[in-house]
Amino acid sequence: MTSSTTTPDAAASGSFSLGGDLPVNRLGFGTMQLTGEGVWGPPKDHDEAVAVLRRAVELGVTLFDTADSYGPTVAEELLREALHPYADDVVVATKAGLTRTGPGQWVPVGRPAYLRQQCELSLRRLGLDRIDLFQLHRIDPEVALEDQVGELLALRDEGKIRHIGLSEVDVDQLAMAQTIAPIASVQNLYNLANRDAETLLEHCEAHDVAFIPWFPLATGALSKSDGPLADAAERHDASPSQLALAWLLQRSPVMLPIPGTSSRAHLEDNVAAAHVELTGDEYAALERVSAD
Ligand SMILES: NC(=O)c1ccc[n+]([C@@H]2O[C@H](COP(=O)([O-])OP(=O)(O)OC[C@H]3O[C@@H](n4cnc5c(N)ncnc54)[C@H](OP(=O)(O)O)[C@@H]3O)[C@@H](O)[C@H]2O)c1
Repeated sequence: MTSSTTTPDAAASGSFSLGGDLPVNRLGFGTMQLTGEGVWGPPKDHDEAVAVLRRAVELGVTLFDTADSYGPTVAEELLREALHPYADDVVVATKAGLTRTGPGQWVPVGRPAYLRQQCELSLRRLGLDRIDLFQLHRIDPEVALEDQVGELLALRDEGKIRHIGLSEVDVDQLAMAQTIAPIASVQNLYNLANRDAETLLEHCEAHDVAFIPWFPLATGALSKSDGPLADAAERHDASPSQLALAWLLQRSPVMLPIPGTSSRAHLEDNVAAAHVELTGDEYAALERVSAD
């Protein structure tokens, strides 16, 4: 294993073309942790949140995952404040389809008129003419999938969004959505400690669909200095977060991890994972550690 001591560069994680025509560096950034407690309200430290986003761009991060519902609106507003006008290679991936009724509360609403409204509001908040990747945050069980994905297809055809993504789906739902519209990405819970989405990942690999694992650090459980990766990290002169992210990057070429953090120090630590190479034995050992 090697780890870099120079300025980390997310480009070292390699590139993936979303929808076949929109390249991003594979190691991205998730903005959910930039909001208040329960993903509700403003961040504890506004200036640090802005600094984290600007530093991420300096470190070569090009994929920023967000959602209308983070805050709500807070994460998108921070992105605009920190990064607008966006550099040519910056891709903002936002989502719609979950409403917020309070801290920690998330209620799916997939009615087409609502998804359209949220797209318009995200365009305005983010200061964009077109959203590069617009993800259906959850499939609303009360609304036909054709209507939800169909509305995203209409928004794409109108030029309001470039690519369509899904979140928290199973293989059948993804396959059905693919009969309605081209799907560029899926975003599901996946990390070293939770690999329930393995068959979905295989489907994504077969169809060149980006797989964006949310909670790549198991919300910090895999990052802890006394956590399950602590011994391996010490042996390999890397941080636990770097091992968790390096394992994801090595797991699949369609994997685009979006670790979240509210601190520049943790951001630098995470981006350095792009430089960490695992041997076959090290890769397998990490799987065994997490299984234990
Ligand atoms: N599609 C969905 O339904 C869905 C659901 C959840 C999340 N997401 C997306 O996935 C992204 C990632 O999820 P997440 O941010 O909640 O969880 P995560 O990336 O698994 O973990 C973030 C947590 O780890 C800590 N952390 C990060 N880097 C660290 C480091 N180097 N050392 C020690 N601790 C570290 C952070 O605390 P500090 O702030 O102190 O660094 C934070 O508490 C979100 O931002 C969001 O964009 C999507």
